[in-house]
Amino acid sequence: MDNHESAVLELEELEVIQKGWDQERHFFKNKVHPDDFPPLPELSAARYTDDAFFQLEQEHLWSKVWILAGFANEIAKPGDFKAMEINGRPIVLVRGKDDQIRAFYNVCRHRGSTVCKTANGNAKQLTCPYHGWTYDLEGNLQFVPAQHEFPALDPAQKPLRSIRCEMNGNLIYVTFDDHAQPHAQYLGNIGLLMADIPFDQVMHYETVSWTVESNWKSVQDAFSEAYHARFVHSQTAHQSLDTTAPVKYLFKNGHYVQINKSRQGEAGIFGQNQEAEDESRTIGQMKPLTRYGQRAYNLFPNLTLPITEGAFSVIAIWPIDVGISRIDLHFLKICPDGELVVTEEDREAVIQFSAVIDEDIATLAGMHNAMTSGGLDSVPLSYGEQALYNFHREVDRLIGPERIDPALLVQDANIPVH
Ligand code: FES
Ligand SMILES: [Fe+2]
Repeated sequence: MDNHESAVLELEELEVIQKGWDQERHFFKNKVHPDDFPPLPELSAARYTDDAFFQLEQEHLWSKVWILAGFANEIAKPGDFKAMEINGRPIVLVRGKDDQIRAFYNVCRHRGSTVCKTANGNAKQLTCPYHGWTYDLEGNLQFVPAQHEFPALDPAQKPLRSIRCEMNGNLIYVTFDDHAQPHAQYLGNIGLLMADIPFDQVMHYETVSWTVESNWKSVQDAFSEAYHARFVHSQTAHQSLDTTAPVKYLFKNGHYVQINKSRQGEAGIFGQNQEAEDESRTIGQMKPLTRYGQRAYNLFPNLTLPITEGAFSVIAIWPIDVGISRIDLHFLKICPDGELVVTEEDREAVIQFSAVIDEDIATLAGMHNAMTSGGLDSVPLSYGEQALYNFHREVDRLIGPERIDPALLVQDANIPVH
């Protein structure tokens, strides 16, 4: 491990976090704003409501970032495929005969029919339903009915167009940018902090989805701060976590983590009875912090990974339209031996966590309408909402500030990031 890595890993060492929690608690209790943190600029409300801004995001943001497209065990066997649209682009993930997972545009190179019409399946080859052009599992055009009628056609020049695809353990990421940096580099330091999470052992067992009349950034904002939790989640998340004083770290590329202290550990994480209790609990290779708090990683642009002992999920937010979003809540399980067994407890986790998201949905419902009403022109940001600043600055950086109406730009507050 080099110096840089150990300096980053220190950020989530138990002693460092405990100190951080104490300090945040002090700020909160004594109503103190930290001296060394600048006031944050307000965000123009039009960033959430303006059609032109939404188009800029589609064109310049979603075309450049790494996007979570699925989980390895959704396409476990050679020939398994998963077809979906990512922001209007039809794509298909396919596991090849060589066991490799690949991503393609789900678009036939003949006249553009989608090739895989079902969301999931298993096939020996991918046959377009329109005129029967057939691709192998590696995307090569293998067979063209009545090929002699296309004398100029070279099938080798017409594979399904591939999309860059990289695995982070069992998580499948794609990007539409052929020049994007590798996924691990895109994560940067936050990736180092997540290195203890056994992504290579996680298996997906359930997804619950919601549609909400809110801009996707309003929804992502809601998963990037704990400020709302003592109101919206007073009877749920706030009961198990102290959501008033999280430790917060901003990262480059718009990533963020906030770490909320678990109430179980309230007596002090070095409490006397902790050791006896610890023996019955397993976190495997995960860092000790896992026992004492919840780390919620926001991976730009649309993911939240709340990590606690025994619970593992991924929240993904998708823009449907400027004022409509979809939330996918994926439930995952750590399966060291690669066998997925879904227990009653796992089913209960789905019910419980979905109920927490229902609380968010209730506040976010109709927010787009409210924000376009003329009742709000800008959004003030608190110290506790610093992730929103970092996120929105990254949105601007990707779009290119020169393309954005100056009135909508987020002003630089000059905050260092990790
Ligand atoms: S569009 Fe696919 S075979 Fe014609
Ligand atoms: Fe929430």
